[in-house]
Amino acid sequence: MDSVSICEIPVVPEVHPAVLRRRSPMAFDADAEIGDAALDTILDAARLAPSAGNSQPWAFVVGRRGDGVHARIVRHLAGSSARWAPDASAIVVNLARVLVEDTDWEYSEFARYDLGQAVAHMTLQALSIGFDAHQFRAFDRDAVAVEFGVPREWEVTSMTAFGVAAPGTVAGVTRERRSRDDVTWARARGDERR
Ligand SMILES: Cc1cc2nc3c(=O)[nH]c(=O)nc-3n(C[C@H](O)[C@H](O)[C@H](O)COP(=O)(O)O)c2cc1C
Repeated sequence: MDSVSICEIPVVPEVHPAVLRRRSPMAFDADAEIGDAALDTILDAARLAPSAGNSQPWAFVVGRRGDGVHARIVRHLAGSSARWAPDASAIVVNLARVLVEDTDWEYSEFARYDLGQAVAHMTLQALSIGFDAHQFRAFDRDAVAVEFGVPREWEVTSMTAFGVAAPGTVAGVTRERRSRDDVTWARARGDERR
């Protein structure tokens, strides 16, 4: 291997600790605060995500618990997410740019794919500075769009609650994963490679 990696490579390949630790907590510590610098860093991780043709089809509405934006977001949560999301330190609304302005042309066939990737970057970045993240869809999408004057070329896609999991918190409703074999449709291993 003649390329130089900027990451330290473990002797035995292993899943990154942040990936292993990541979970979607169902309860957050309502006293945990998140500072501006931490939020900046999380947003920067999103900005640095790859996207098709570098189209960067994402935008975010950021509400910190106790501020006006947060209050405007919380108003539109569904009953299920209203039970836990408002206690998180911040709620971020994730928007995808789906249309070219003033047209019905698709902005990018990968808009939602790229947004998801940016959000994944945010969740791992958050973990690395001490914050858990729980993405969710349980809210009124149209009402959020009206609340924040979202133009029609943007879609309010999902939200992420960032915060510190409450002690003893169980993670999401379902955490079972499909096996590696089940998610791998074709692969040659070891000696099978030609
Ligand atoms: C796009 C998306 C939408 C989701 N919507 C909800 C939701 O509305 N309510 C909820 O409690 N969790 C929601 N989740 C969290 C998933 O249920 C959770 O990621 C999954 O059960 C796996 O658990 P884990 O994240 O703890 O590994 C959502 C996750 C994603 C990525």
